[in-house]
Amino acid sequence: MCGIVGYVGEQQAVPILLGGLKKLEYRGYDSAGIAIYNGQRLAIKREVGNLDVLWETVAEDSPQGTWGLGHTRWATHGRPTHENAHPHSDCSGNFVVVHNGIIENFQELRTQLEKKGHLFCSETDTEIIAHLIEELYQGDLLQAVSQAVKELQGSYAMAVMSTQDPYNIVAVRQDSPLIVGVGEKENFLASDIPALLDHTRRIVIMENGEMVQLTPQEIEFFSLGGTTINKEVEEIDWDPEMVEKGGFPHFMLKEINEEPATLRHVMAGRLEKDGIKLEEFQLDQEQLAKIDKIFIVACGTAYHSGLVGKKALEEMTQIPVEVDLASEFRYRQPLVDEKTLVVVVSQSGETADTLAALRHAREKGARVLGIVNVVGSSIARESQDVIYLKAGPEIAVASTKAYLAMLAAFYLLAGYLGQLMDKANQEEIIRMLEGLRELPLKAEQALQDTEEDVLKAAEYIAGQESTFFIGRGLDYSLSLEGALKLKEISYIHAEAQAAGELKHGTLALITDGVPVVALVNEEGLTEKMISNIQEVKARGGYIIGVTRAGLKQQVGREVHELIVLPDTMNMLTPLLTILPLQLLAYHAARLRGCEIDQPRNLAKSVTVE
Ligand code: AGP
Repeated sequence: MCGIVGYVGEQQAVPILLGGLKKLEYRGYDSAGIAIYNGQRLAIKREVGNLDVLWETVAEDSPQGTWGLGHTRWATHGRPTHENAHPHSDCSGNFVVVHNGIIENFQELRTQLEKKGHLFCSETDTEIIAHLIEELYQGDLLQAVSQAVKELQGSYAMAVMSTQDPYNIVAVRQDSPLIVGVGEKENFLASDIPALLDHTRRIVIMENGEMVQLTPQEIEFFSLGGTTINKEVEEIDWDPEMVEKGGFPHFMLKEINEEPATLRHVMAGRLEKDGIKLEEFQLDQEQLAKIDKIFIVACGTAYHSGLVGKKALEEMTQIPVEVDLASEFRYRQPLVDEKTLVVVVSQSGETADTLAALRHAREKGARVLGIVNVVGSSIARESQDVIYLKAGPEIAVASTKAYLAMLAAFYLLAGYLGQLMDKANQEEIIRMLEGLRELPLKAEQALQDTEEDVLKAAEYIAGQESTFFIGRGLDYSLSLEGALKLKEISYIHAEAQAAGELKHGTLALITDGVPVVALVNEEGLTEKMISNIQEVKARGGYIIGVTRAGLKQQVGREVHELIVLPDTMNMLTPLLTILPLQLLAYHAARLRGCEIDQPRNLAKSVTVE
């Protein structure tokens, strides 16, 4: 999704803006631009494509100035072209705007402004903001922006500068993230913390409906009505290295390799000798006893984690669980009331559909628990209880370590609720605790032991047009995530099927050499899976089996290639099975020369519906 960086101070703005935008690349974008005040006018440079293209343009003719805005655009209104790239200006060139999100009533506003004689140069919804401010400006930028905002409908974050008000940036947050960085005789603005870590760790997180005015000396926050707001400065303890590649060629590979540590972090302080401690969850036994249904609501990879979460929660709490795609949930009139627990899951904490589902659930009186990675994000703030994933910054668009942390969080939640509600068998909890404690080491072992076999499988898949993933039970949930990962970064068509469903249609697509990744880890379903594998083999399919050590012989006989994972208790197998699937996608994409960390058309944080 779009990225915003702003700077006002004593240093040259260009390197600060471009350096900050580089750190926001993970959000996904298709064009980029900057606006710098050179003492006389606002110089704008914009380019389609990645930041290197903009760097080259700027290197030839670098605007000098210590005050500016930068932007990476992920196209919504209008194709990724030079004209549609941000920043956008008004007719006079005195006002520039960068914007993230969507202005829903832009067409109506554009028609009104055109009638008043404003000339538009782009197809974007953003450009109307610049013209609107031009129209409303009467000597005070803050005042003009606050009036303009009253006319805008939608969700957005925006930043504005004007030659009429030098060394002043005005910004507004309404549903899209925006943070302010506090410096000495300089101040910063950005969509996310990594953009500012090279300059400051002192951050203020803006809330919806807040405006800020930044000058080199001062930062003032206001409500949209103009009332001054006092906000706390937070010290961020992230090491800038956490958002660097640390010697890996891609963030995705770095993040996969961080997964054993991620497991340690998510469980740290939450596993006790004979139980699970989740201090963040405030519902007591009496309130919990009233809960008669659980919904898990999320998008993409987070949704897939919910499918595994359902199984764990149902087993441990005996409460029925439904898993919904957030984009469907709010429009299907789900049966949610004050006896419902809604678990919303999100790495970014800003996904528009998930946030909207959360709000819908709260309106209906449900108790909302967020499972979130980004601290202080909208979903974390609007949930009544939050379990943080503690996975650290995830930069690659393809979610890997956050997915694993989500799975672990679901096991913790299921065990905790099961104990609190007296529904889970204590021996089972103890066994799960033992299993969880061993997992970080087993994950390390899995990454090492499967590397060679995964590479071999990736070489085969990289040359194919299509790949199928099959499994039963938990393995089916994992198949869905394996297929999503492969298609989003390698652009190979990938599809997951519950293995028993193959013969109801998909088997028609299995011909000679078509790769089928068969997951065979579920206790009690091995024989059934082997029959499905045979169905595929009989049609010429090329089977890549993924199984655990205990089933190696049995499965090995049936498949063309085999990836073997360490044994663990049945319920916890997803925490290991996902590792070779993520690596398989990574290597297939690498062999095909794809842009792994920023796949085409995708964004890290999807803040539009
Ligand atoms: C993951 O690889 C995807 N790029 C995507 O499906 C993602 O999981 C989805 O957009 C939800 O994001 P969230 O976890 O930040 O809410």
